[in-house]
Amino acid sequence: MPIRQFQAQRMHAPRDFQAIAQQPVCVEIGAGKGKHALLFSGQNPEKQLIAVERTREKFLFMQKQHVLEGAKNLQPVHADALPWVVHALFPAQVEQFFILYPNPEPHNPAQRWLNMPFFEFLLSRLKTGGSITLASNIPEYIAEAEQQLIDVWKLPFIKEVIPADSARTHFEIKYLERGELCQQLIMSKPEAYATRFDDFQPLLGQSVDVAAK
Ligand SMILES: C[S@@+](CC[C@H](N)C(=O)[O-])C[C@H]1O[C@@H](n2cnc3c(N)ncnc32)[C@H](O)[C@@H]1O
Repeated sequence: MPIRQFQAQRMHAPRDFQAIAQQPVCVEIGAGKGKHALLFSGQNPEKQLIAVERTREKFLFMQKQHVLEGAKNLQPVHADALPWVVHALFPAQVEQFFILYPNPEPHNPAQRWLNMPFFEFLLSRLKTGGSITLASNIPEYIAEAEQQLIDVWKLPFIKEVIPADSARTHFEIKYLERGELCQQLIMSKPEAYATRFDDFQPLLGQSVDVAAK
C-alpha cells in the first residue's frame, strides 16, 4: 500500500527556530545526551553535525558537554525533529542522518521512523549517495525497518551487528552491557531517487497560513 503523503506545510516552526546555512551537513535525530554527536564531531572535523533532541534535560546535558569541549562543527538543537527538518533543511542538503536507538514505540507502530510518511520528506533532504544510519537493540524493530526499505522506500541498505565494545551512545552502552544484540541498518540514496518533496523549499521559520491547511 503506498504511504500517504506527509503534510509538510502543516508543520509549525519549532519555538526559537533559527535557520541554518545552505551548506552540506550531517544531522542526528534524537541525539539524547549527545555522546555520539560529540564523538562524531571530534572524529570528523571537516563535517558539520547538527544534533537534534526534543527532551529538554537531555538537550541541556548535550549543550553543557558541547560548551566544555567547544567543537565548532557541532550545533545542538532543542526541537522536535519533524518541524525542525521541514523548516530548516534544504533539498539534498544532508550527507548523513543518524537515528540511534530511537524510542521503540511498542504501542504505536505508526510512530516508528520508517513507518511514518515523514520518512519520505527526510529522504528528500538527503543528497544522492548520502546515508541514514538506524540502530536498535530490538530485532523486530530492525526487521520491520528492513521490510519497509524493501517494500515501501526501495532503498539499498546494509545490515550490521554492532560490536560488543562499541560505545557510541548512552543507550548503546547500556544495551551492550546487558548482552543484548544491537544492530544497525545503513541505507543509502541512489542516483535518480525521487520523492514528492524534492522541490519543497525549507520554511525557514515562517508561520503557516491556517487557510492553506
Ligand atoms: C531511546 S533515546 C536514545 C538517545 C540516544 N540516541 C542514545 O542512543 O543514547 C531516544 C531519544 O530520541 C528523542 N526523540 C524522540 N523523538 C524525537 C523527535 N521527534 N525529535 C527529536 N528527538 C526525539 C528522545 O527525546 C530520546 O532522547
